[in-house]
Amino acid sequence: MGLKITVIGSGNVGFHLAQRLYKCGHHICQVFSRTPTKAAHLASLVASSGISNLKDLSLEADIYILAIKDDSAKIITEEISFLGKYNKLIAHTSGSVSSDIFANHFSNYGIFYPLQTFSTTKKVDFEQLPFCIYGNNASTEETLFQLAQSICPNVYPINDEQRAILHVTAVIVNNFSNYLYGIAHDICSDQNVPFDILKPLIYETVRKIDLSNPQDVQTGPAVRGDLDTIAKHIEFLKKYPDHQALYELISSGIIKQIKQRALIDK
Ligand SMILES: NC(=O)c1ccc[n+]([C@@H]2O[C@H](COP(=O)([O-])OP(=O)(O)OC[C@H]3O[C@@H](n4cnc5c(N)ncnc54)[C@H](OP(=O)(O)O)[C@@H]3O)[C@@H](O)[C@H]2O)c1
Repeated sequence: MGLKITVIGSGNVGFHLAQRLYKCGHHICQVFSRTPTKAAHLASLVASSGISNLKDLSLEADIYILAIKDDSAKIITEEISFLGKYNKLIAHTSGSVSSDIFANHFSNYGIFYPLQTFSTTKKVDFEQLPFCIYGNNASTEETLFQLAQSICPNVYPINDEQRAILHVTAVIVNNFSNYLYGIAHDICSDQNVPFDILKPLIYETVRKIDLSNPQDVQTGPAVRGDLDTIAKHIEFLKKYPDHQALYELISSGIIKQIKQRALIDK
């Protein structure tokens, strides 16, 4: 049987999560956004009611999911702390915010963190993503586990410390890689070379990590020790000083990693 859920936040995560919960049979009591039109739009997709003032939160839901900006999570928790008096379960979707933000106001709280990149403009495949959950007591953890399993098959009980590590590494593999793709895209546009030609290389790089430790399949001038090629690239990047600095930093990181691995192998 579906649960009664209110989703606080209608951004990238709130937008997809509310729709997935609704599609999987849960009742979405209310959705919140500071922007009334945004709240109303999401509400219309999930047969819910949109609110743009937290004072309008109803007590109808069993579970309140906070999908808002990390830096605002603590202050919003304080604003809605009255829910704790009614024994409501609260969870947030952040990779980095501690579950402790709830401890002063709620007896049942936890984490409901989908480890994937979400944008409102792109459909998310909930069948593929890992869902990290945590509950501050056994029954809360079980409820959040069941809820996560009702919308996605891959659910992992993960504590705050483990989640913090996953979040740092998620930023490295997703945000940083994407930043590098953006740099390559800009250089290609600037030099009138089609960026699309690089896409098969990007996909193949990602596919290879399914089979090996990424360090084992590193290729390119830094790993080969082709210093003349590196020097040529650095010379070319003179016109992009920020990218040049990054190229030098990462190339020296790869060279250092190779040397460290060689020492370990000795
Ligand atoms: N995006 C991802 O890939 C991703 C993946 C996993 C987890 N997360 C986590 O999910 C949470 C939400 O991320 P997101 O990407 O969905 O963020 P987002 O798109 O920026 O949406 C943030 C939501 O928080 C609301 N908000 C921001 N500041 C607020 C404040 N001071 N008071 C009240 N509401 C406020 C925004 O209101 P308005 O609607 O009025 O703008 C919006 O609804 C974050 O904790 C993030 O770490 C994100």
